[in-house]
Formats: sequence, C-alpha cells, structure tokens
Amino acid sequence: MTMKRVVILGAPGAGKGTQAKKIAEYLGIPHMSTGAMLRSQIDNGTELGNKAKEYMVAGNLVPDEVVNDIVATSLKEAVRDGGFLLDGYPRNLDQVHNLGYILHDLGVEIDGVLELKVNFDEVVERIKKRAQIEGRADDSDETVRNRLEVYKRETAPITAFYQTAGKLTVIDGMGTVDEVWERVKAAVDAA
Ligand code: AP5
Repeated sequence: MTMKRVVILGAPGAGKGTQAKKIAEYLGIPHMSTGAMLRSQIDNGTELGNKAKEYMVAGNLVPDEVVNDIVATSLKEAVRDGGFLLDGYPRNLDQVHNLGYILHDLGVEIDGVLELKVNFDEVVERIKKRAQIEGRADDSDETVRNRLEVYKRETAPITAFYQTAGKLTVIDGMGTVDEVWERVKAAVDAA
C-alpha cells in the first residue's frame, strides 16, 4: 500500500517541515502545515491571523476551534484530490478526535503517522540557528522554552493514541537532513 494520508509528529525543531516537504514530493501529496497556514494568515492581517498571533508569539497552542476550521476545509479538498501530509496537526487529543471525525465523514482513514525523535538539546540548537537566519517571531529563547513545555504536556501524549491504533512509526531524527530522509523514506516504502 502506498501511503497517501500521512501525519508527521515531533517536537518543535525536530525537522517535521524539512522532511514533510520531501515526503510530500516523493508521494505526490500536498504538504499541509498548520503553522505555515497560521503564519500566512498573520502576514495577510486577517481576523483569524490577528486572533492566532498572540498565542503563537507566546508559544502556546492556538485555540482548537480556530485551527480545526482551517484544517477541515483544506482536508476536504486534499482528500478529494488524493491525499495529504499533515504537519503540525493534530497537536492535542481533542484535535486527534476532530481529525478522526473529519476523515470518518469523508470515508477515509489515516494510512500512517511518522514521529521524528530528536533530543531536546538538539532541537534547541536547530531552532537557535534558524532564529539567526530567519528571525521567526516564536524562535526567541523564552518562547522556545514554552513551545517545548507545551509539546511535552499536550502533543507528546498523542503518540500513544496512534501507537495503540497500530499507525505509528517512530523514526530517529538525529543526524543530517539526508540521513534522516533515508530513514523516513524507508518507513514510507515499508508501509
Ligand atoms: P509550527 O509551525 O508547526 O512549529 P513547530 O511544531 O514548533 O515546529 P518548527 O517549525 O519549529 O519545527 P519543525 O519540526 O517543522 O522543524 P524544521 O524542519 O522547521 O507551529 C508554530 C505555532 O503555530 C505553534 O507553536 C502554535 O502556536 C501554532 N500552531 C500550529 N499548529 C497548531 C495546531 N494544530 N494547534 C494549535 N496551534 C497550532 O527544522 C527546524 C530547523 O532545523 C530548520 O532551520 C531546519 O533547516 C533545521 N533542520 C531540520 N532538520 C535538520 C537536521 N537533520 N539537522 C540539522 N538541522 C536540521
């Protein structure tokens, strides 16, 4: 079976976005990043963007109803067109259930969930480097500390749900981008 409906999980800075782009290209499915969607709303000064901004700058999760709405619309189109790679969603158990309801209504299921495991010292280093290059608003030291806390508290526990459902593949995310990609590709090919 070729994976066509895929979720990628991992801590902030674990390399989700980097690997997601490669997976999406490899599988011919759209890369749907909720972080990127929200940043685009902020850049465009929309009402939704203004609502999301204060949460993102503090490193907190944007309220579920805001994110669920964005995802629902894009997911329907993606499922109709053949699949998706979700990056940054779901991020807590309520979002896990919401995703389940949306897909159930569309008559499909997730094919697989990939979790990138990277130790916390490494993710902090990666984000520090990115802060110097890109200056992303939520990459300051204080916000990163909170993003990691939020990840541990709210997002990390959802892997157990997908493990129980038999959907989860854990991938070592340490090493170079190419080394990680070899492991990711092997996991995708094995599905
Ligand atoms: P989001 O944009 O999803 O950010 P994140 O999860 O914190 O992840 P990052 O983008 O920081 O890292 P990444 O894992 O994608 O790694 P990347 O490939 O970029 O979310 C931002 C915010 O939006 C959240 O805090 C929240 O407020 C809100 N939000 C989003 N979704 C939400 C939801 N569902 N519900 C509620 N709120 C939501 O890599 C990081 C850096 O490392 C890059 O510079 C990259 O070049 C480099 N790198 C990558 N791989 C390697 C490698 N192997 N070796 C060395 N460097 C590497």
